[in-house]
Parts: sequence; C-alpha cells; structure tokens
Amino acid sequence: MQTYNEEMRSEPTVRDKRKKGLAEESGSPVLNQGSQRKKQKVSPTSVPKKLKFEVPTAKFDKIFSIDKLGDPDHAREMKSFYDENGIVCIHLGDKINTRQAVREFVTSIFRQMPYRKEFLLNFKLKNKKEIHIDNDEDIDDIVNVLLDSRITSENLRRLKNALPPHATFGAPCTPPSFHLDIENKIRQDEQLYRAITLLLDNERINCDFNRAIFRVPTVTQGEVFLHFDLDPRAIRSDIDSLIQGKVCITACKFICVPGSNTDEFLKGFNEVYAPLYPGRKHGVAKFAIEPGPVKDPWDLFGKQKAFEIPAGSIVLWSPKILHGHPSFGRETPISIGFYLGFGPEVSKEQREALVKSYKEGSIPEFWPSGDRVHFFPKKFTNFPFMLQKTVVDKLTPKAHEALVTTRTTKLGKEVVDMRPWKWKDGNFTPFQFTPLGLYITGQKEWPK
Ligand SMILES: [Fe+2]
Repeated sequence: MQTYNEEMRSEPTVRDKRKKGLAEESGSPVLNQGSQRKKQKVSPTSVPKKLKFEVPTAKFDKIFSIDKLGDPDHAREMKSFYDENGIVCIHLGDKINTRQAVREFVTSIFRQMPYRKEFLLNFKLKNKKEIHIDNDEDIDDIVNVLLDSRITSENLRRLKNALPPHATFGAPCTPPSFHLDIENKIRQDEQLYRAITLLLDNERINCDFNRAIFRVPTVTQGEVFLHFDLDPRAIRSDIDSLIQGKVCITACKFICVPGSNTDEFLKGFNEVYAPLYPGRKHGVAKFAIEPGPVKDPWDLFGKQKAFEIPAGSIVLWSPKILHGHPSFGRETPISIGFYLGFGPEVSKEQREALVKSYKEGSIPEFWPSGDRVHFFPKKFTNFPFMLQKTVVDKLTPKAHEALVTTRTTKLGKEVVDMRPWKWKDGNFTPFQFTPLGLYITGQKEWPK
C-alpha cells in the first residue's frame, strides 16, 4: 500500500479524478492565460522566500441544484459527493439576483463609509462621464462598472481608494458587511437549511454570523495562502459537525488540495509536516504551509486546484480541507459574495450575543473559530502609519473628531488609534427573520 507521501507525490490518473468527482478542466487556461503550469525548479539548498504558483483551473464534475434537492436521489448524491471530496457546490436557483445584490453592496457597504466625498466610490465611464455614489441616478452605472469583466486601471485606482478597511484581504468588517439583506435572506433560507442538515446529519444547527466578500483584482498573481483553518495537530473531535462556505454572488474560484480532507491525509500530514513547523503555537487557527521542497515535501502547492464557482452558488467545504486564498491577478473580475458556514447549535451566551447583534446591527466580537474580530487589519497595530494613510486621513471632520484617538506603545511612543465606526446617523433597520430563520440564525433555541 502506498504511503501518503508516495500517493501525494504521484500524479492522479483520470480514473482517480473521476473517483474524486473533480475532473480537471482539460486544456483550461491557467491563471496566466494560455500558458501551461510551470514546474517550480528549486534546489533544496536554495529555497526562495516566496514562490508564485499558477494554480490550474478545475470544474466540478457536478454542481447540485437547490431546487432539485427535494428529490431523494439528488440529495443522496450531493451527500456522497461531499463525504468523498470534502467540498460541494450548490447552485441557489433564483434566490440571488446578481444586480440587486451588488446594488445592495454599493448602497449599504460603500455608502456607509464615513469618508470625505473624494474618497467615496466614484468612477469615470468610457464616455468620460463622472459618476459618484452620492448620486442615486449613478448607482446603476456603478453596478455596471463593478460587474465589468475587467475594470479599467483608472477605476480600479478609484475603487481601492474607497474600500473599507480589510481591503487587501477582501472581506470588510464594517457593520453593513455583516447585515446585508441578501446575507440574511440566504442565512434563513429553508431549502439551504435542509441541504445542510443532510450534509451534517443534524437538524439542530445554526448558521454562523459572518461577513461580506469584496475582493478586487490584485496586481500580483499566483501568491497563495495555503492553509487549514484549524490547527491540524489539534483537530477537534467535533470537526465533522462543522461546514464552511461562501455564497458567490459573482462567479469566483475556490482553491483547495482535493483529497486533503480525509482522516488518512491528516494523519500522514501530522507525521510529516508538523515537525517541519516547530514553534507554531498549538491550537491556533489558520495553519499555513510554505512552498518549496523543504517545507512542502509532498508538493501540496503543486496539487492545488482552483475550482470554478458559478455566480449564484454556494460552495461548502470541510474545515479539514487544505485551501487557499488566492491572488488571481489583474485580469480577474471583482469577486463579490459572503461567507456562510454552519455548525451545531450555539451556546446560550452566544445566542444572546447574536440576538443583540442582529437587533443592533453590531459586528461580532469573535469569529466562529474563536479568533477575535478586528475592525481594522491587525497589522495596523504594528504599523500605525498604515491606519493613518488608509483610513484616518480619509475621514470626514465629524468622523475624525468622533473616532480618532491615540494610544501609547510599549516603547512609550504615542501613535494614532481609532474606534470602529457604527452605522451612519444610526441608520440601521433590523432584518425581519421568519420564525424558522430565528432558529437557523441561532437567535432562538431549537425546540427539544
Ligand atoms: Fe481559510
């Protein structure tokens, strides 16, 4: 029998791929259009600090349909697919109207920014017309620009200036990012809830309270943060009761290493990789690996696939799967969507926090992983000039006065700091959940 090391080094056969249900798109363009994936040639003695990978695009053998999951055969097939592959894609039918959802991103997330007018969303159209988020009549054109397959460099520059904090990661943590109507509508959707109960084999589940995704094309391409969300050396016994996911309002890609979700893989990984990463604190979320023959002896970076997720779908994955947050480069459309995972029913304390958040429109204190939520990127703490440049310098005088403070560093230096902002002029209306939605979103305890 092959050891895991051998298996991971060998190229999967077509039969293997079929068995996995994840056939690679033949002859598909990789990230650098039209070129073949380049083999990285590195000697063990000269490991580059940062390797760039052209991850091959792949298509799911099957995308399931939310409207057909009432058919027990379709539902069973979906369950087997997920159990085998640790990942599954479900098209959400007509539950998502792309234009309407993107419009909500514009009028909610972007209109809530307490920035001066020149830093609020504005674009220049091909006919030279200037459009600005302050003008209601320009919103349709703004949506068109955001849905363009390739945003112009000028408009990308303007967009980057108007992004909320966490712009570089593509997942803003401002209040509207957690409270969009489209998010709440899908969170409480009965058909999706039924599908997840089947995947998790549990009816007493809650969806997590997570944020929107708004990822702009990056200049660099191919840099991948390949990681487990949970520390693989400290996998919790309840891991199979959790599922992670993201709803893709626009088409996007999900990068993972197919087959890395199995217990056998995990066992082998822990034996071979854990010793290569000493000094990593045990149990901390996000266990990333580094490329190169020394730190990645199974060439897991080379085994990544970028699965295409059609607009209007949800991709769900096991927290055990090794996956990546890619930078696909300048030729990619803007990726718009939101995270949506599910797990066992929350505790009484968590329920109380959720009720409060949904009622007041606040952001959560902690992620489902247990990590603290940072309103600004954590690195701003060490680099206050970045906070100054990307946020503080753009604030309206009123917001500046209300939010900006200072703090003293450990070295006794006074640096800029600021409080998170809330809704503009208290402009928040709580979403009206259905009776079932209150249970699904964890605001009410499931009946015994
Ligand atoms: Fe992740």
